[in-house]
Amino acid sequence: MKLLVANWKMAPILPKAAASLAKSTATIAKAHKKHLTIVVCVPTVYLTTVTASAKTLLIGAQNVAATTAIASTGQVGATLLKGVKASYCIIGHSESRATGESNELVREKLDRLLEQKIQPILCVGERERDGQGWYLSVIKDQIESALMGLAPAALKRIVIAYEPVWAIGASAEREATPAECLEMIMFIRKLISDLADPKLARTIPILYGGSVSEDNAVAFLTEGEASGLLVGRVSLESKRFAKLASRIADL
Ligand code: PGA
Repeated sequence: MKLLVANWKMAPILPKAAASLAKSTATIAKAHKKHLTIVVCVPTVYLTTVTASAKTLLIGAQNVAATTAIASTGQVGATLLKGVKASYCIIGHSESRATGESNELVREKLDRLLEQKIQPILCVGERERDGQGWYLSVIKDQIESALMGLAPAALKRIVIAYEPVWAIGASAEREATPAECLEMIMFIRKLISDLADPKLARTIPILYGGSVSEDNAVAFLTEGEASGLLVGRVSLESKRFAKLASRIADL
């Protein structure tokens, strides 16, 4: 079973469009339910809209508050996400880290999600690749500070997403190659093996994200050995997302 996560980011602009996108995504999810688990991470304001218009769709949020204090104006805590039936939540996305979110804060968010039995999708990724391999230490710090000391039962509920910042979004420098994806996935599995145990290191899902499209999706899963994909822009275009899903479904 492969995990395909749609990250709608701050779109669509209107609730009507969100409901209609949810419906078409639910149709795609239904068509491939034997091979793919499709999760849609929607803007917080659409969590209930999407749940209502596509009851079968697995829903996720895109961030969560680190605090449980009710006096937290403007924040959305894990208990609220649980209340609207979000089963996944992205944390540590580079677009959130870019606003000043530290590794320590990401760890607190991860703990809040685990307390509510919401599955964290922990994003890690370096801003740039240097010739000396320093980028590996960025990933090491992100993984270790998020996962250090967690019990094996908690680790089993986590999904990791490797998203090199330079390959994300419309302003991406370039696409990552499947070989670059594979190198990092093996590196992350080795880190998990050192932190926890080799069995978990082999089985923990590690997604790839960053300019994933219907054209490169297969290669990230086959040559890149990703367990699934985290898809931004293409997840907003139903036809392309459907094509992507059908291309990876039978791998
Ligand atoms: P992208 O975004 O597919 O538009 O590059 C991926 C992400 O940021 O999760």
